[in-house]
Amino acid sequence: DSQIVVAIDGPGGAGKSTVAAEVARRIGGLYFDTGIVYRALALVALENGVALDDEDALGKLARELRIRVAPPSKQDGRLYDVWLDGRDVTWAIRTPEIDRAASQVAAHREVRSALLGLQREIGRSGRVVMAGRDIGTVVMPDAPVKVWLDASLEERARRRQRDLAARGVVVSLEDVKAELAERDRRDAERAVAPMRPAEDAVVIDTDGRSIEDVVRLVIKVIEERC
Ligand code: C5P
Repeated sequence: DSQIVVAIDGPGGAGKSTVAAEVARRIGGLYFDTGIVYRALALVALENGVALDDEDALGKLARELRIRVAPPSKQDGRLYDVWLDGRDVTWAIRTPEIDRAASQVAAHREVRSALLGLQREIGRSGRVVMAGRDIGTVVMPDAPVKVWLDASLEERARRRQRDLAARGVVVSLEDVKAELAERDRRDAERAVAPMRPAEDAVVIDTDGRSIEDVVRLVIKVIEERC
């Protein structure tokens, strides 16, 4: 089948990006990391002094968000470019401050409904692997393949710390753990589209598994269900 939607959800640091990008490459599909829409909105809000609890103002910003994702223009470890009004914000949306702000703006109903259409449009574009928190439950509930990637907080924090260190950002493991735990709690407890596995999702615990291992498991699910 040419049209395949693979939904990969799970908490921060579970390996969604790495796995989703590699799965997309192997099936010849597009990789769409949906977290970037909330991250881009958070960046615009912070830059324009919009309060992270001002749902109306954030909803308006979300409706006006002009975000473009493109193949990587630089070889600096990025998987893709993120452009906002002609500005390359690929790394600007990957700071600890944006991690926190993104999960705050993502909790608002107005924001989520404003950003749903553009995610679905990309989801309907053919072969696509989408990573996020609510892809299997809300964005693409009919996706034939749904995967929930998880890992212990300890392991996720170590991965996140390593990613940040690779870009010269030094943070203690304790701080990363606290931030991840706080973000997970906010994402799981929000009223709208809370982070949770879809009923028909295949759950994969990535603790102690290599990326290759996890990628193979996902490909197996795709072969079974498509
Ligand atoms: O996946 P990533 O860490 O980039 O996501 C940043 C934040 O965006 C998450 O903490 C979550 O609050 C929000 N998000 C979401 N739904 C998605 C993807 C991300 O609420 N599908």
